[in-house]
Amino acid sequence: MATTGIRAIEGTRDYFGNDGNRFDKIETFAADLFSRYGYARIRTPVFERSELFARSIGAATDIVEKEMYTFTPGSDTITLRPENTAGVVRAYLQHSMEKQGGLTKLWYAGPMFRRERPQKGRQRQFHQIGIEAIGSSDPLLDAEVVSVGMRFYEFVGIGNVGLRLNSIGCQKPECRPLFRQLLRDAIRPNLDKYCKTCQNRFERNVLRIIDCKNPECQKLSATLPKSYDSLCPECADHFERTKEGVSALGGEYTIDHTLVRGLDYYTKTVFEYTHDALGAQNAIGGGGRYDGLVEELGGKPTPAIGFALGIERMLIAMEAVGACACGYPLQVYGVSLGDSARRAMAGLIARLREAGISADMDYEGRSMKSQMRAANRREAMCCLILGENELAEGKISVKDMLDDGGQEVVDIFDCLDAVRKILPRI
Ligand code: HAM
Repeated sequence: MATTGIRAIEGTRDYFGNDGNRFDKIETFAADLFSRYGYARIRTPVFERSELFARSIGAATDIVEKEMYTFTPGSDTITLRPENTAGVVRAYLQHSMEKQGGLTKLWYAGPMFRRERPQKGRQRQFHQIGIEAIGSSDPLLDAEVVSVGMRFYEFVGIGNVGLRLNSIGCQKPECRPLFRQLLRDAIRPNLDKYCKTCQNRFERNVLRIIDCKNPECQKLSATLPKSYDSLCPECADHFERTKEGVSALGGEYTIDHTLVRGLDYYTKTVFEYTHDALGAQNAIGGGGRYDGLVEELGGKPTPAIGFALGIERMLIAMEAVGACACGYPLQVYGVSLGDSARRAMAGLIARLREAGISADMDYEGRSMKSQMRAANRREAMCCLILGENELAEGKISVKDMLDDGGQEVVDIFDCLDAVRKILPRI
């Protein structure tokens, strides 16, 4: 590894080789799978007004308090998006998408930015693919959204993904506010035994005490009331029907009352996908319902649900199970010697590309032997070989690289057919 020169900023990275190939495939699979479920792609800006994130994610969350990249160019205060649900809802409202009637289903992919301490599976610039379904409170939709994520992991070749499910209720006084009160009452007698972070969260964000990873706090929290036991009748019914729906779609889940998520906009259903290859940062994706967010950002009350899957964590899991490492092998490599043969080869390669075949040639004037080596390195399935003599006779050699090097000389105008005879066998 080079030790001098300008290096990538801590918590950011480059994607190439196996990871580059996997990254490409994740985005291609996302476009394919999500569109099957009726989601259309949306691209929103990577920066937004800071206020958008404070109002949606919540001013008392780790993300907004400590992790945002915020700038003040001129009189604006803008933030690099730490997630994309807020941006998608902002766009939904700005473009009055509700006027199209019914449910709006959108998917996205792109970089997000959080100023967290970098470690395995945790970066400062990371990437997510996600879906947002805006305009329905049907628990069958919750079940569908949860199952889309599971399908996606299967699609990219990651098995053994765990699904944690919980409901954190709604804002009605008899639901989450009452649960918060019950929690504070249960925690208060032991508050001084909790870690500093939990003590700070007691007044401002008491739910997060339940998911503290400190073993002492976890021991103290073992007997705390559970959110799903304190739901209002509507949320309790919604949770039951969501669970039934997930089971009906073949999903296996565990109910986890410590799952409260780190963003304030959630209501009712919350869920996370986990994978053992990740270690401490074992959430490879997560999401939930956010029935109050559209209204919070100035729209009419509109229920919604979505998820985001972390691409870097998916790459770690894919590496661990050896999924989808291969790239896109080259179909044809052109080997040529001499000026006029090289020019003729450039024309042939262009014709192959127009015919939908991936093709490349030597642009460094190398010897025949080095060009053949390059063809092997590129894992070309077939080679075209052209010298000045063959060109003068209107002939070209077509070498089958898949089948131990069988080679035939054909009329130069027939070379596309000869190539096609070799390629369909893969
Ligand atoms: P989140 O749980 O904050 O949810 O992030 C979703 C996923 O992004 C995580 O499960 C993880 O895989 C990945 N991720 C988060 N932070 C990092 C990081 N620093 N480095 C690497 N990967 C990371 C959201 O972002 C919500 N917007 C999801 C959602 C969509 N809820 C409803 N709709």
